[in-house]
Amino acid sequence: MDTEQLVSTFVEYFEERGHRRITGSTLLPPPGDPVLFTTSGMHPLTPYLEGRPHPLGKRLVNVQRCLRTTDLDEVGDATHLTVFEMLGTWSLGDYEGPVSLDWGYGLLTEGLGVDPGLLHATVYAGDDRTGPDTASLELWQGLGVPTELTVEDNWWSNGPVGPCGPDSEIFLWSGDGPPRSTPTRDDRWVEVWNHVTMSHHRLDDGSLVPLPQRNVDTGLGLERLASLLQGRSSVFDGDIFDPWRRLVPPLWQLDEPSLRLVCDHLRSAVVILGDGVRPANTGRGYVLRRLMRRLLTVLWRDDPTRDVGDLPGELVRHTLDHFRQDLPPDRVRQVLVEEQHRFGRLLERGRHVLARPRFRGPLTEDDLHYLHDTHGLPRDLITSLRDE
Ligand code: SER
Repeated sequence: MDTEQLVSTFVEYFEERGHRRITGSTLLPPPGDPVLFTTSGMHPLTPYLEGRPHPLGKRLVNVQRCLRTTDLDEVGDATHLTVFEMLGTWSLGDYEGPVSLDWGYGLLTEGLGVDPGLLHATVYAGDDRTGPDTASLELWQGLGVPTELTVEDNWWSNGPVGPCGPDSEIFLWSGDGPPRSTPTRDDRWVEVWNHVTMSHHRLDDGSLVPLPQRNVDTGLGLERLASLLQGRSSVFDGDIFDPWRRLVPPLWQLDEPSLRLVCDHLRSAVVILGDGVRPANTGRGYVLRRLMRRLLTVLWRDDPTRDVGDLPGELVRHTLDHFRQDLPPDRVRQVLVEEQHRFGRLLERGRHVLARPRFRGPLTEDDLHYLHDTHGLPRDLITSLRDE
């Protein structure tokens, strides 16, 4: 099953159960939202989880592109991407968590053909403020799915304040032999679907207040599940990355971790550009700039003549088409190349300045400020230049 078929199977399954499809938003959160990028499917729905009636009703389904920089250091492992898509469903004060889990089990096993023996669940064990999620535990026991109880890992929040609540996560065994151990002890259990009972709101002082309605918010990582269903060992081996695997290695010979990072960051940069962001020294533009600098640092490690301008147009177009973005591919390439030149000039200036006797020893905070304010050299760049 390819990624597009997985999306349509998911959406149709929930439409048959009374959900209306909402249009997935761009990576840019709604106006007034303090975060730079949408990090989960529920993010644009926050006002509705907090009680505002949604124009399409109480049961929703969508596909939302997301960007997470918190996972940046994990990019390159088998399961993390900077930009990914989340399939999501919501009950806005309608059905409860166990109904959602039961449907989730049905879709995975009957709809998508997952062997039930390869599933494991985790459930919220409760703490001194909120009780254990016994309803979800009983549901899993009834279905014969092994369950592990945790506290921190099964409480979902989108940040220090806002809607939050206990969750039940569904894991799929990715190992070669028969399943072993539990999700917290063996990372061959890969989390594929999180079902959150959004029941509380956390205030500035850390206290929890019940929301006016109990919601269910679920999120399933599309690329992750697609690659597992395709029997591939990492998200970088799923069908979404087929063109990258075909076209990048003949262009640049990279070891596997570098190839993964370069493909992830380039693909993310294309999507961010497609959503209208341009490189800058602050905010969203700086996230884009950092992704570019990270990938150029890896590309240039072995060969400083490598050029992102050589990126095949097919890859840019494939990505823009997938995310239904209409920026011309040549424009994307032009911005990437301009940013590459800027970084090249900055590195040259950095090497030149850091070679001065004054900067040969350990650098003080004053030195770092001076290098930043006078020469435009950010701290992370100075660190990497001194490690060369
Ligand atoms: N909000 C939850 C998550 O991001 C489920 O959608 O995992």
